[in-house]
Amino acid sequence: MALAAKSWIIGRIITLLFYLKLVTFIDAAPQVPCYFIFGDSLSDCGNNNKLQSLAKVNSPPYGVDYPGGVTGRFTNGRTFVDFLAEFLGFDHHMPGFATVEGNAVLQGVNYASSGSGILNETGAIVGERFSLLQQIDNHKSIITRIKQIQGNNDQTTNQYLNKCMYTVNIGSNDYEGNYLMVPAANRTTPPDKWAAQLITAYSDTLKTLHGLGARKVAIWGLGQLGCEPSQVLEAKPKTPSGCVDDINKMISLFDNSLPKLVDDLSKTLPEAHFVYVNSSNISPGNDAAALGVKVTLEPCCKVGKTGGCIPNSAPCANRNDYSYFDLYHPSERSNLHGSLKAYNSTEPLDVYPMNLQKLALL
Ligand SMILES: *[C@@H]1O[C@H](CO)[C@@H](O)[C@H](O)[C@H]1NC(C)=O
Ligand SMILES: *[C@@H]1O[C@H](CO)[C@@H](O)[C@H](O)[C@H]1NC(C)=O
Ligand SMILES: *[C@@H]1O[C@H](CO)[C@@H](O)[C@H](O)[C@H]1NC(C)=O
Ligand SMILES: *[C@@H]1O[C@H](CO)[C@@H](O)[C@H](O)[C@H]1NC(C)=O
Repeated sequence: MALAAKSWIIGRIITLLFYLKLVTFIDAAPQVPCYFIFGDSLSDCGNNNKLQSLAKVNSPPYGVDYPGGVTGRFTNGRTFVDFLAEFLGFDHHMPGFATVEGNAVLQGVNYASSGSGILNETGAIVGERFSLLQQIDNHKSIITRIKQIQGNNDQTTNQYLNKCMYTVNIGSNDYEGNYLMVPAANRTTPPDKWAAQLITAYSDTLKTLHGLGARKVAIWGLGQLGCEPSQVLEAKPKTPSGCVDDINKMISLFDNSLPKLVDDLSKTLPEAHFVYVNSSNISPGNDAAALGVKVTLEPCCKVGKTGGCIPNSAPCANRNDYSYFDLYHPSERSNLHGSLKAYNSTEPLDVYPMNLQKLALL
């Protein structure tokens, strides 16, 4: 009897598993028809490869854990936007603006460019890059292509674009590739005024994006830039936290304005849903022990003068032990953690006022 009951239960479980699999299969269409990505090197998938730029990484060990190997992604494997594309149900990562062809534009494009910022002049030191405003211009040209494919009907295309997911993660370079490059004693703008100027410019650009049909938009805070290995290794003297607390404090002036920004935009723009992701709170450093991350303040790869991995050098063996891959960029392990929280967390400190899954299904 006991045995029969057991095998009945096992039978049920197998049926249930089969059913769940089937449900997953039936559900396999993406939760949104399209996903557009704006940002800097955290999101870049190779858009800088053909630019005259110091900020490109088209050689190993970048991509060592990515299915396609080297692509121009600034990490060992997938970026956080690659993971988000997977969670949203896409069977591919969004193609880069620099290379996307044909009908692929219908499902979304990645415009992100390493070195870029909210301000046009940000990142000039690395050479060519697509600033956020240039990324918006590039999006306009993609919309023209989408319109052509959809039969040149403005309303059809606009209704289609309303359903897409949009993520924007930018601003780090407006500090590291702009404000912080001037010695503190020489800065003419105080930190609070700098943050306010960035927020004003960011707000204007997000309104433009809304004007181009975006309704579901998630934006990321900059998080603990003062805990990046690049900052930590230069810090003199070291602070007890291990991070450069002054930089974290300065960045929080920007980040702390973002919840109000998403509230304002959602309230004032028609049908708009803006979401804020708190990069500080979703950092793997906060859960290092639980995640099995052992090294949070040092890079995995051997870095050269620019902070990038030395081309063709061997990366660390246990890449999941590290939160950072090079001096500036998180490892795939960190990207997985952060994207899962953004997509899935029910904690308002992680995602405000809702997670990306809810945003997608609105
Ligand atoms: C989301 O959260 C649930 C419950 O915590 C988990 O089972 C699931 O694997 C998570 N990931 C995705 C992509 O939904
Ligand atoms: C910034 O760049 C955009 C796109 O390239 C351009 O249209 C705009 O005029 C520039 N703005 C300024 C203030 O330079
Ligand atoms: C900072 O200001 C000092 C004094 O005015 C000047 O000599 C120096 O060149 C400036 N440095 C930079 C990097 O602007
Ligand atoms: C983000 O999370 C941190 C905790 O990790 C918290 O101190 C901070 O206030 C949060 N920022 C915002 C703008 O919610």
